Amino acid sequence: MGLSSRGHRAALDRGASSTVSAAKNRVVERVAELGKLGRYEGGIDRPLASPSERAARERFAAWARANGYALTQDAAGNTFARRLGTRSDLEPILVGSHLDTVKTGGAYDGAYGVIGAMCALELLDARGIATAHPVEAVAWAGEEGSRFPLGCLGSSAFAGLVTVDHVRSLHDEDGIDYASALASPDGGALRDVAQRSDSSVAAYLELHVEQGPILEAAGVQLGIVTAIAGQRRLRCTVEGVSGHAGTVPMHMRADALCAASELVIALDVAARAVGDAVATVGWIHVEPNGTNVVPGTVSFSLDIRSPDDAKLDAIEAAFERAMQKARTARNVDVTLEAFERRKPTPMTVFMREAIARGIASLGKPSLDVPSGAGHDAMSLGKIVPTAMIFVPSIGGRSHVAQERTGDADLELGVEALAAAVAEVDAALLAKEA
Ligand code: HGY
Ligand code: MN
Ligand code: MN
Repeated sequence: MGLSSRGHRAALDRGASSTVSAAKNRVVERVAELGKLGRYEGGIDRPLASPSERAARERFAAWARANGYALTQDAAGNTFARRLGTRSDLEPILVGSHLDTVKTGGAYDGAYGVIGAMCALELLDARGIATAHPVEAVAWAGEEGSRFPLGCLGSSAFAGLVTVDHVRSLHDEDGIDYASALASPDGGALRDVAQRSDSSVAAYLELHVEQGPILEAAGVQLGIVTAIAGQRRLRCTVEGVSGHAGTVPMHMRADALCAASELVIALDVAARAVGDAVATVGWIHVEPNGTNVVPGTVSFSLDIRSPDDAKLDAIEAAFERAMQKARTARNVDVTLEAFERRKPTPMTVFMREAIARGIASLGKPSLDVPSGAGHDAMSLGKIVPTAMIFVPSIGGRSHVAQERTGDADLELGVEALAAAVAEVDAALLAKEA
């Protein structure tokens, strides 16, 4: 029978041994260690299937091997470390996050959740706490979508939201497809790790830094996520007519960058108008990008989010109207390509309650918080019971080199995750009985 967190508490009372405190503060050392991989003066750039991201997976694999956890990886490049349960007939509880970063990433977004999952399992080992379900720490492939144009690439394939062939066919900006990247010796799949073919899973938990200001402002160390905002990732391309900056009269121009600029502002205005939504243009590409040449072609990204799917529809509709206006007013051609449209993902109530019991067993307060940031929990939440634990982000900052979370919060998050695993194990057993 899996031990609930009351049993977890009793195990705690048997006195925290040195191995327990070692398992807890290992999270700080490991976050610092992985934080060196891909680091440059602008932060951390650790794209999927790069040498630095592979090095991070190698470290994950080394920790798993040292613990005797069985390592597997699947065709989408997700890596799993399995801690056995007392009942091999039960599907595993997965606990994980991602190791890739945005181009100007910090040391906590994603990596903390992967390291925290490994440390939580080690904490259960150190306290001699068995679970009935096997529990697997997971490093999902390519959550950020910073190299290949799909966010949550690996977890989407695992959850069957896209095919493995589709993700392996995606190309990066250099025209390299993911399948080739996975096959490359310096950034690809780990060697001598067994292939995982089945995608059985009983439930999913993810530990993550909040990446926003709510917990810090409330002075609460632990957040229980209520829902993850819906998000849409699109690319708009404006085709005008390039020409000599000195000779093309203004009334004869089809300036792609002027049209794109009006569209960028139109997106911003639309998000502000509907409220409870955010919209960002973070990437833009101008051709021919010369100081004395009228821009002929401009592409830019759209990242639109809201907890309310109808608001996402309203923003897209407003943007389509702005596209139509640009076609006539600027004499340009405008197209829009959608890479992903994800509905809001509510977290599973019994899982949230299990986390709350686990945190209460530690004698700590918690706060229900929404997630504006996307996570692999969006993928798993489509197929199995799913929930997330947040710890505070200092200044609410993330996706920047200054991203930071306090050591005590990192350690408490691991404690909360270990307690939550025990609680979820017990809750699932009760449901399966
Ligand atoms: O964009 C996001 O919200 C996540 O960090 N990929
Ligand atoms: Mn991120
Ligand atoms: Mn993340």
